[in-house]
Amino acid sequence: MSALLFRNAVVATAGRVFTGDVLTGADGRIAAVGEGLDAGDATVVDASGKYLLPGGVDPHTHFDLDVGIARASDDFYTGSVAAACGGTTTIIDHVGFGPPGCGLFHQIEEYHRLARPSVVDYGFHGVLQHVDDGVLADMERLRDREGVTSLKLYLTYDFKLNDADAFRVLRRARELGITVCAHCENDGVVSLLRREMAEAGRTAARHHPLSRPPLTEAEAVGRFLALAAMAGDAKAYIVHLSTRRGLDAIREARVNGQANVMAETCPQYLFLDDSLYDDPKEGLKYIMSPPLRKPADQAALWEGLRREDIDTVGTDHCPFFFKTQKQAGADNFTLCPNGAPGVELRMPLLFSEGFMKGRLSLPHIVRMCCLRPAEIFGVAPQKGDIRPGADADLVLFDPTIEWTVDIDRLHENVDYTPYQGMRLTGAPAATYSRGELVVENGIFKGEAGRGKYLRRK
Ligand code: URP
Ligand code: ZN
Repeated sequence: MSALLFRNAVVATAGRVFTGDVLTGADGRIAAVGEGLDAGDATVVDASGKYLLPGGVDPHTHFDLDVGIARASDDFYTGSVAAACGGTTTIIDHVGFGPPGCGLFHQIEEYHRLARPSVVDYGFHGVLQHVDDGVLADMERLRDREGVTSLKLYLTYDFKLNDADAFRVLRRARELGITVCAHCENDGVVSLLRREMAEAGRTAARHHPLSRPPLTEAEAVGRFLALAAMAGDAKAYIVHLSTRRGLDAIREARVNGQANVMAETCPQYLFLDDSLYDDPKEGLKYIMSPPLRKPADQAALWEGLRREDIDTVGTDHCPFFFKTQKQAGADNFTLCPNGAPGVELRMPLLFSEGFMKGRLSLPHIVRMCCLRPAEIFGVAPQKGDIRPGADADLVLFDPTIEWTVDIDRLHENVDYTPYQGMRLTGAPAATYSRGELVVENGIFKGEAGRGKYLRRK
């Protein structure tokens, strides 16, 4: 691999923006950052007029997820190609559930096999399906043998944990320095409302958000964070936060002294609202959990980002084909596989609608989309920033490109995007992973399997 000198880029790190140069070495790492750097043997890339950002770190994908009634349509190859085309060079995937009773290693071993074709570097969050002494012991072994330093638990769905088990996990995680991610929805209320709606024939997509009202999230966020506090301030990470009331619960936990509370939201909760469910046919495209919310929730989440009360933007990328897979819910939304695509557009959406529209600074976007996810999940300083010694994972954004989002120009293996028709300013012109050019002008140039598994700290 040849060394590269990015000349005259507008370099955006988590801390500053400046016009200058970035030199990468033949080892795939950043060698120097500065002004007027000597090219030596490096190939010069004229980056004038372009923004050079760290490659994105998406802390929440579901590639190849088996949800029982369907399998997510992006596998680790197509999903990671889409990620790279959108400027994301690291993903941390939430592994799916395994057979009932399986231990923590079962799904990690399965996912090593599934993830082999990945074209970007990747890690896995482990999944907790039940809790017993073996699982609690395996948390340490998984950390030490596999570098899996985060686990996810669900407060809803088939493998939900009760409060006692969630508490046991948090207490053990606190001892081990492991981060516990939580899908927070009140299962009792959601299950009851879904059952009642199905019985009453209220099965159109517009009933989906009504079956998961905002307080189902807020209650579960508050409860999970209280359990984390009782466990001695365990590291607690809220995935896909969607509501103002959930954000209030996060702020309250911090005000009351919890130092290890972290929160993620996703583009769908920032850019889309629940009026999209009103379309009797198209509404199925947005069946996801938690559901899309009201504009007032969107505004609260943007404010949460601005104040950095929300740490990260992940995608919860979990696509299903609209014309086939999503139609399972055509007569009954409860039968529709939950999830939507997003991995390719996270960075372009934030660049265009966050930075170009003046809502957020570029360093702030780098923190939310690159550095904070890398720090929280133990891949910093290797990932998430532009600094000597870090992997040369870089994305060059061209701010002069104006374009309309269209599924035909995306690489996600799915037949729709929730952002169809949005006008965006700025697009990734090139993506580099460990110093290798993997995408140029929307064309993927890397090889299947080039992504490396990340053992995390
Ligand atoms: O609806 C969603 N979010 N699907 C992905 C799986 C999950 O719930 O995280
Ligand atoms: Zn998810």
